[in-house]
Amino acid sequence: MNTFQPGELVLLTSQKGKTWLVRAGSGSFSSHLGDVDLQEVVGRQEGEWLETNQGAKVFLFRPSLGDYIHKLKRRTQVIYPKDIGAFLVYGDIGLGDVVLESGIGSGALTLALLRAVGPSGRVISVEIRPEFAQLARKNIEVFFGKTPENHRLIVGDVTALPLATRVDRVVLDLPEPWHAVGAVSAALRTGGLLISLSPQVGQVQIMWQELRRHGYANVTTFELLKRNWKIDARRARPEDRMIGHTGFITVAKKIAHTLEEVPTIRDPEAPVPT
Ligand SMILES: C[S@@+](CC[C@H](N)C(=O)[O-])C[C@H]1O[C@@H](n2cnc3c(N)ncnc32)[C@H](O)[C@@H]1O
Repeated sequence: MNTFQPGELVLLTSQKGKTWLVRAGSGSFSSHLGDVDLQEVVGRQEGEWLETNQGAKVFLFRPSLGDYIHKLKRRTQVIYPKDIGAFLVYGDIGLGDVVLESGIGSGALTLALLRAVGPSGRVISVEIRPEFAQLARKNIEVFFGKTPENHRLIVGDVTALPLATRVDRVVLDLPEPWHAVGAVSAALRTGGLLISLSPQVGQVQIMWQELRRHGYANVTTFELLKRNWKIDARRARPEDRMIGHTGFITVAKKIAHTLEEVPTIRDPEAPVPT
């Protein structure tokens, strides 16, 4: 029986789906639904509930990665879970991969990368601002319960860093990612993937030029829209509000030669010339 232990993160969830992140065993928690004694969480199982002193039910769950990303302490823009999913799948990031990431920001994407590569893989994060590096490290430690052994965090400028390690994937969330392409491409193995997120399409255009200059093929850019729906017995319709735009995701594959050395790189999605 995997019951809640003292100090463990718990996502209190109301019957209407409102959530609060707390720790089992320490003090009490108050909301508009009343008070809950957090000592009572210890020894219970996920999916059980407690009653507040006003008689409302709150369910007990461990936070999912998506829950935690919405709640984590942030001092930077973070990558949203919908875009993180795309990074992992279109960037083909999996067990055993060595991933170079920059910058770490608040560490939202790093959490997903660490989980995807597992203990046999490695994530190397490069962050220029020491205060963000520190915050991200703390957010990661809180989620995993300790600093994962497969995480290396370097405080420095990714555009100027000599990177000796060969990596399978490069993941960029930088204001001017094109300045980093030269440095990270020296570390990325041939056939490896580079994934980058930029909010503005002008940034993407500069990125494309830089990717072609440094020898990438199969370059694609897309955005993802997520719209939640209100569903009950009387209605089923989209929510009035949504996050309309987060960023454009660009995915590229590193080729064995730079563009100058190969005659043409054709977009595989483009129609075949007749
Ligand atoms: C938008 S935040 C990254 C958010 C992160 N992906 C997350 O999900 O929490 C961009 C980060 O890039 C860092 N940064 C900017 N220029 C950099 C550089 N040249 N080298 C390393 N990090 C840099 C910033 O300090 C900032 O923390």
